[in-house]
Parts: sequence; C-alpha cells; structure tokens
Amino acid sequence: MIKPAERLDLIEEYYFSKRAKEIAKVRESGKKILNFSIGNPDLPPASSVIDALYKSARNPNNHGYQPYAGTPELKEAFAEWYGKTFGVELNPATEILPLIGSKEGLYHISMAYLNPGDTALVPNPGYAVYAVATKLAGGTPIYYDLDESDNWLPALEKIDEEAARNAKIMWINYPNMPTGAVATKSDLQKIVDFARKYDLLLCNDNPYSLVLPQQEPLSVLSLDGAKEIAVEFNSLSKSHNMAGWRIGMVAGRNELIAPILKFMSNINTGIFKPIQDGAIYALRNVDEKWHEERNSIYAKRKEMIFEIIEMLGLTANKKTNGMFVWAKVPEKIKDVDEFVDKLLYEFGIVLTPGRIFGSNGNRFVRFSLGVKEEEIAEAVEIIRRNRDKFA
Ligand SMILES: Cc1ncc(COP(=O)(O)O)c(C=O)c1O
Repeated sequence: MIKPAERLDLIEEYYFSKRAKEIAKVRESGKKILNFSIGNPDLPPASSVIDALYKSARNPNNHGYQPYAGTPELKEAFAEWYGKTFGVELNPATEILPLIGSKEGLYHISMAYLNPGDTALVPNPGYAVYAVATKLAGGTPIYYDLDESDNWLPALEKIDEEAARNAKIMWINYPNMPTGAVATKSDLQKIVDFARKYDLLLCNDNPYSLVLPQQEPLSVLSLDGAKEIAVEFNSLSKSHNMAGWRIGMVAGRNELIAPILKFMSNINTGIFKPIQDGAIYALRNVDEKWHEERNSIYAKRKEMIFEIIEMLGLTANKKTNGMFVWAKVPEKIKDVDEFVDKLLYEFGIVLTPGRIFGSNGNRFVRFSLGVKEEEIAEAVEIIRRNRDKFA
C-alpha cells in the first residue's frame, strides 16, 4: 500500500469539497437544492470585462507562458486601483504580486515565511485556510479569539504575550469573513501597533471591501507604520464577480513580498494573458455605479434572508460587510450540525455551520448572498410551510 505523506494527516479534505458530495446525493434523490452555503458570486462580471477577456483570447500571441510576477500592465492596474479605492500608493514594479486567486497566496506566504515549529496567530472564527496553510508549512496556528461582544475585533490585550512574541505571522481579515464585521482605521491602527511591538508579519486578507461596504474601503497599508510589517491580499473574486477567473494579488514593500515570488515561481508559471487583460480592464473601468447596482441586488437578497432568519428564530446583524449573513442559533436548538443537516436532508436548504470557522463559530450559521431572489423566495416559502418543525 502506497501511503500518502504524513502532512496530509494534519488536515482534512476541504469542508466544501466534502459537503459538495453530500449535497450531490441529496440532489440525486430528487430534492431541489437551495444552496446558501458557499460564497460563490452567481452574478457575472461587467459584460465589458468579458469582452476584454474575449478580445485578448482572440489574439494568437496571448496563449503562451506569462511572466511569473504578472504583466507590468496588470501590476500598474492593481496599483491604480489601490490608489483610487484605498488611497494607498504602491510601486507597481516592486510592491505588487498578482496571484491565481488570493487563496493560493495565503499558502505561498506561509511556505515562504514559516519554518517547521514556527507559529502564526490565526483568528477564531476565521477563514480556514490561514490555519491549514500554517500547518502545511510545518507551523502551528495559535488561535486568538474574536468575540461578538468586541464586534469581532481581536481583544489584543487578551493575546498571550509570549505567544505574540514567539509568533511570526498574524492573520487578520477585515472586512471580516464569516462575521461581516468591519475594523475602523483606529481599530486597524491598534493591530498594526501590536504587530510592530511583537515583530510580526501582519497579513490582512481584504477581499470584501467593495461588497456591501459599511465604510470607506480601508487598506491596512494606509495606516501609520504598516508598510514596514504588513502585507495585504486582495482579489477580484468577490469585488468584481470574477471568482472563477482566479485572479488576486498581494501588496506590500518589496522585501516582504519578494520571498513569496521566490516560492511561487517554482510552482506556477504566470496567469493566462486574457485573464490578466480582463482584470486590467475591470480594475480600470468598472465604476461605482456597477458596484452599487451589484450591491443593491445583494442588499435585496439580504432582506429576504432575514425573513428566514426571523422564522427560524436566529439572530443576526444586518449592518455587515461582505457577501454573508452570520446568524446566531438560539439556545433551544441544541445541536447546530443536526439543525443544518435537517435543513439539507429534509428541505434541500444548505447553510454552512459556523464551527468550520473555529470554535467561536459553534453557535452560528452562515448564509451566502450568492443565491438568486427566486431561490431565496422558495426557501422562505419552505420554511414558512414547515415553521412548526423548527418551533
Ligand atoms: C476571507 C477570504 N479570503 C480569501 C478567499 C479566497 O478568495 P480567492 O477567490 O481570491 O482565492 C475567500 C474566499 O472565499 C475568503 O472568504
């Protein structure tokens, strides 16, 4: 028997990959699936962006390998976008590294910075990849709590001093997923000061700034002293409905991002040129009006999801950023997994249990806004008809 590597024992198959198989079985049994589970934008990018991709794909010269660190024009477009969106000036040649989606970058930076035995401070709840990437790089995640009572911001004074001193990386993600919480400038400044005090590489994962924004888009790189110690990941997946294109970036001063390229250039070989050209077009031309129209669709969906939330006796904050609703399950529902399974197996309604984001998510479920109004209406109707089963 040929055994897979021991590092695989440190992790599990990605939750959504496993869940997709269970969902497929329910679908095969004839039940219609209403999937509120995954944060996959169902709306298309601006049609002019698709035209730009198409036009570039028709060019016979655009099908070869591309530069490891992205085309100069893509880096310029990212830099312009950071300037106009976040007021952050970046040198396109040295301070931006395009990625095949930000998810891969979270792995690359972990591999580039963590030695076996190193630790990374990881939010609980948080995007599962921060911890998994840390483990695959031979490191250990040290979880810090995010709590509803602190508006899901890190209580920095509660982070163990020795853990902070020993850690190499600190992961943050504002606007936050899964909670939808935002960090103000002063909240982020406190985190930057903390990272400087303990000599941490601060990694902000920032893909949700333009999705139902609750404040002016904010980059960690705009804060005092941040550029010395911080990098920021961003992505067109959620901001521009381009999740399947796989395009994102990491920004920061050259000394901090160069090791990521050193690692990454040994793994992949550039990004398909038409995707880069479509992204350039999107970064330069998709305007506020497009974002507002897209966000008004999400806002309408959110309102409808709140009907489900109320009928199920859940509680949630409406004023959240990003493409999810993070809802608390009432005490009378003892087992959240059982509740989520009942919704799937009896009614075809798929939610994500908050536990997959860490123990502080145990009493929560997450709804995605990537579901069409007609389908949300169907879910509302199903829950209305079966209300007594949840009483
Ligand atoms: C917090 C967070 N970071 C990163 C990602 C990955 O985004 P990308 O599509 O750019 O890889 C996601 C995707 O769901 C996310 O929720």
